[in-house]
Amino acid sequence: MDHNHKSLISIQDFTKEEILHVLEVAKEFERNRVQKILEGKVIACIFFEPSTRTRLSFETAVNRLGAKVIGFSDATNTSVSKGETLKDTIKMVSNYVDMIIMRHPLEGSSRYASEVASVPVVNAGDGANQHPSQTLLDLYSIMQTQGHLDHLAINMVGDLKYGRTTHSLLQAMSHFSPEFIFTSPEELKMPVEYKNFLDGKGIRYHETASLEEHLNDCDILYMTRVQQERFTDPMEYEKVKDVYRLTASMLSNVKPNMKILHPLPRVGEIEQDVDDTPYAYYFKQAENGLYVRMAIIAYLLGYR
Ligand code: CP
Repeated sequence: MDHNHKSLISIQDFTKEEILHVLEVAKEFERNRVQKILEGKVIACIFFEPSTRTRLSFETAVNRLGAKVIGFSDATNTSVSKGETLKDTIKMVSNYVDMIIMRHPLEGSSRYASEVASVPVVNAGDGANQHPSQTLLDLYSIMQTQGHLDHLAINMVGDLKYGRTTHSLLQAMSHFSPEFIFTSPEELKMPVEYKNFLDGKGIRYHETASLEEHLNDCDILYMTRVQQERFTDPMEYEKVKDVYRLTASMLSNVKPNMKILHPLPRVGEIEQDVDDTPYAYYFKQAENGLYVRMAIIAYLLGYR
């Protein structure tokens, strides 16, 4: 595979073969969790938006691969606060490192950064647009729990309008003949461009506002948080913030293979009593992020 200076901005930057390759490499890193193959390299993690899992798992991945991390988790402590542009910031950071991992609130900012940078860029989330490393760990989690990725019924629940992880996951799963259920209130429906994308590929989807309606006929229940930070009107957020609340008592008739995924953080859409059911997989899913992010870094730098 030709991966010289390749960036990962959208999940569509990877072919189906590349996706499957990265998942295989992640399995290798889960089996053998410390491999110092990147000694001498420096990787920047620059986060213009809050993060727990993505930043810390990327930084752990860099450490476990033997490289060093530089970066920031709060841009107010950088020269951005003096008015430095994203373009100049990226050009500067490019001079110091072998790869840039960036989260930014503006949609399209990661693509722009990859066009300015002289090193590979990984999009760690750009506004409501894409979160491709999350998608690869979601795929890894689906593969680990279902044994395969083909012909699965995926029920996406919650904020399908602003939830960037659902947008990336939908595109990635389109390689594997899925069927989708989109469970959301009217205000947070899956954007029309993603439904057009599925229509173009002949992939079926159903839309509903009822969490109960398709709970018992899905293989993956992909819960999401209502993305408060993307709302311009706080009253609109108040109307929908508590729209779904999954409890253990709702799971009595689900398919035995069904697993609940959530990119996390959760803020009330999954009750804590669900954590003790055999269907809860979201904490292991977050752990999987470490192995998948090791695989993404190793692949993009040409070491796998
Ligand atoms: N899933 C996810 O992106 O979590 P963080 O915002 O904590 O990184």
